[in-house]
Amino acid sequence: MSETSRVQCAALRSKIMSAEDAAALIPSGVNVGMSGFTGSGYPKAVPSALAKRIMDANLHGKKFKIGVWTGASTAPDLDGALAMVDGVELRLPYQSDPTCRKRINAGEMEYIDIHLSHVAQFVWSGFLGKLDYAVVEVAGILDDGRLIPSSSVGNNKTWLEQADKVILEVNAWQNPQLEGMHDIYYGTQLPPNRRPIPLVRVQDRIGDPYLRCDASKIVGIVETASPDRNSTFSEPDENSRRIAGFILEFFEHEVRKGRLPPGLLPLQSGVGNIANAVMAELDQGPFENLTAYTEVLQDGMLQMLKSEKLACASATAFSLSSAALVELNSDLARYRDRIILRPQEISNHPELIRRLGVIAMNGVIEGDIYGNMNSTHVMGTQIMNGIGGSGDFARNAYLSIFMTPSQAKDGAISCIVPMASHVDHTEHDVQIFVTEQGLADLRGLSPKQRARTIIENCAHPHFRPALMDYFKRALAHSPGKQTPHLLEEAFSWHLRYQQTGAM
Ligand code: COA
Repeated sequence: MSETSRVQCAALRSKIMSAEDAAALIPSGVNVGMSGFTGSGYPKAVPSALAKRIMDANLHGKKFKIGVWTGASTAPDLDGALAMVDGVELRLPYQSDPTCRKRINAGEMEYIDIHLSHVAQFVWSGFLGKLDYAVVEVAGILDDGRLIPSSSVGNNKTWLEQADKVILEVNAWQNPQLEGMHDIYYGTQLPPNRRPIPLVRVQDRIGDPYLRCDASKIVGIVETASPDRNSTFSEPDENSRRIAGFILEFFEHEVRKGRLPPGLLPLQSGVGNIANAVMAELDQGPFENLTAYTEVLQDGMLQMLKSEKLACASATAFSLSSAALVELNSDLARYRDRIILRPQEISNHPELIRRLGVIAMNGVIEGDIYGNMNSTHVMGTQIMNGIGGSGDFARNAYLSIFMTPSQAKDGAISCIVPMASHVDHTEHDVQIFVTEQGLADLRGLSPKQRARTIIENCAHPHFRPALMDYFKRALAHSPGKQTPHLLEEAFSWHLRYQQTGAM
């Protein structure tokens, strides 16, 4: 152990080993719960060493596959490395890795896309089978064995509790000032013993700053000093700025109507550039003293914390660009009392989202004229990423907003279609739909009223007449029906794209 080791617990020091030795402890056929959430806090060394071991086994004609359970997406040196060597039998819950995606869509890897708030309770209940190993990154180990969580919490509490054996990666790159920023709630129960979770404001702390782990389960500790994967954000483009502008106008309207307070309600912002652009616009907007109860803290929110437009933010992970990461790490003291990182079963908990009255804002691949949303499947069959936390938030939010550019692939695809080719969020969970063309407020509208509003306000002018024509012919074909459709035509737009390259 070096003098600067973050393994302060004397009793655990004998378990320090190389990543290769730790990877050698994991046999084929087991389920492994790994830390990691949107590129933060994932184990940096053991997965790559395991991938190498799998490759060696494959070279000797032996099949070697494991089940990989995480918080959400991770990084090329975890998901990418294991997928590259075809070492993953089954993956859950959310991923966004290109090699993983390819394997899943080629039928070479099973993938279970679960609401992020459900994962922990599914494991506690035994719905997913046995968790054999946990490989969890921490920022340090205290002398009494408690663990300082790193830049994401995700499902780590559950992995540490449920796995038979635990391998810890102690990452000296993680900022020591992360200590104290986390809030690990140990009061969750399974039915029939559940009690209300005592969180009533975004900034409430209801748990401990540390993770616990039974020391007898720890079979290996690997010391690392490697940075998190950075997320890349582009400067908001014209479409993102327009979408953000419509959302801000809508918020101002709702405040004037008395349906939102002047400081709005806790914001949840999904992954990607549009979500980031909305935050950039809010940073320039009229609202003060905002709060966020969300899953990932992206660049836009960090900037809002810096400008103090955002009073505080609760999340389960950071998802920052390299520039924002430098800003955070150079001045963590400035932010640490206003950021709380929680386990994902708490950051995404339906009870808390409903109680706080969260405003949920998430991206989609396509939406249909009646307001059903597809977040996950391209042309209804190929997985893109996964539902992530969008369902947790959308279903339970005070206001559920979905956003997308009105077209994709340089105008070959309309993101508004007669019938969504896959549905993650039904019409019942969608109150606001917004594209760069405009915003559709769907509250209080029947399906037929929704269809007119979505086509008129959100569809691209290039596709609008054809969508209106479809709707009117469906209406004429089945007068009086609640949700008119021409079933033989409903997916013709997708088929046309597949056959001709354009809808
Ligand atoms: N049909 C086919 N492809 C489409 C499409 C459509 N209707 N709409 C978009 N695409 C393609 C884009 O062309 C792009 O492809 P490329 O990578 O080959 O360029 C890709 O899908 C991503 O589109 P983009 O516009 O860059 O979207 P994004 O980065 O804003 O992500 C989602 C959109 C839906 C994929 C993303 O928000 C997501 O994974 N959501 C689900 C999870 C979630 O909401 N998490 C947050 C909860 S906290």
